[in-house]
Amino acid sequence: MKRRAYITGPLLPAGLSLLQGKAELVVEPGPAPPTRERLLEQVAAADGLLALVTSRIDAEVIAAAGRLRVISNFAVGYDNIDVQAATRAGILVTNTPDVLTETTADLAFALMLAAARRLGEAERFVRSGQWNLWQPDLLLGRDVWGATLGIVGLGRIGRAVARRARGFGMHILYADERPDPRAEAELECSFRSLEDLLRESDFVTIHLPLNDRTRGLFGAGRFALMKPTAILINTARGPIVDQRALYEALRAKRLAAAGLDVTDPEPIRPDDPLLTLDNCVILPHIGSASVRTRDRMAELAARNLLDALEGRRPAHCVNPEVIDQGRWRKA
Ligand code: DGY
Repeated sequence: MKRRAYITGPLLPAGLSLLQGKAELVVEPGPAPPTRERLLEQVAAADGLLALVTSRIDAEVIAAAGRLRVISNFAVGYDNIDVQAATRAGILVTNTPDVLTETTADLAFALMLAAARRLGEAERFVRSGQWNLWQPDLLLGRDVWGATLGIVGLGRIGRAVARRARGFGMHILYADERPDPRAEAELECSFRSLEDLLRESDFVTIHLPLNDRTRGLFGAGRFALMKPTAILINTARGPIVDQRALYEALRAKRLAAAGLDVTDPEPIRPDDPLLTLDNCVILPHIGSASVRTRDRMAELAARNLLDALEGRRPAHCVNPEVIDQGRWRKA
């Protein structure tokens, strides 16, 4: 008997082709996510769920999922899923790490360069017909090369950013739960408390998961520790930064600039005051959005789903204890 899988948005062909013929598929056509009602109804009839980050899979959805065995998230971050509720219900949760590391690090670096060298502002200047003369003091920015970079969260993506930073001759600091001497030797970086990192860095880049400990971690108090010439980069999750406090800090020039690939909420509201600031570069959550990487994410999310549906251990389980402690729901 074919298992039934529900996919909450259009899945790229690289992933869809792996599932066709192997499971009975219900695929939302998108681009908008399913309504809450539709999500609850479809999850109730599914053995497997492949979720885009735009779908909130909370305790209510999990309670409705009578025969669900796996939630395969099309992302490395899984703050859209109540993992504890899934674990209690004996449902595996999987994600897509590794395949997007380098692409996301590229984007973090692109944001550093864009915010430091005022690329968005400069492009708007040209397109609006204001460029009529080369001038020595036109659109002066800040150097990335040779500056001090503070990486908050030295996980996979944080390390990939550090490797790029070495090529730019940056002095690299990092903050994490504990020092990592191997990473320090490999990447020539130095451990700091978060507070010291904020005080010393010219660029601060966030590479943390969103959870109860990191929500609102960057607010007015922490911005006050940073240099007024410093630039904040966030490619992780919007709610890690208090967006109102960031606006105030940027407006008052207590921070020089910010580069954000993620906001709170997403999409950012058209009347959000951040959008009025020239010293804030804002992108629409495209960290992993290269053709190759999105194909690889689709493949991995599909494989995780299929492995679980067919009773195998998926490559990337967020809650492996469901299998290890014999709590995985029976097919
Ligand atoms: C992730 O993988 O967590 C990204 O933010 C979504 O592409």
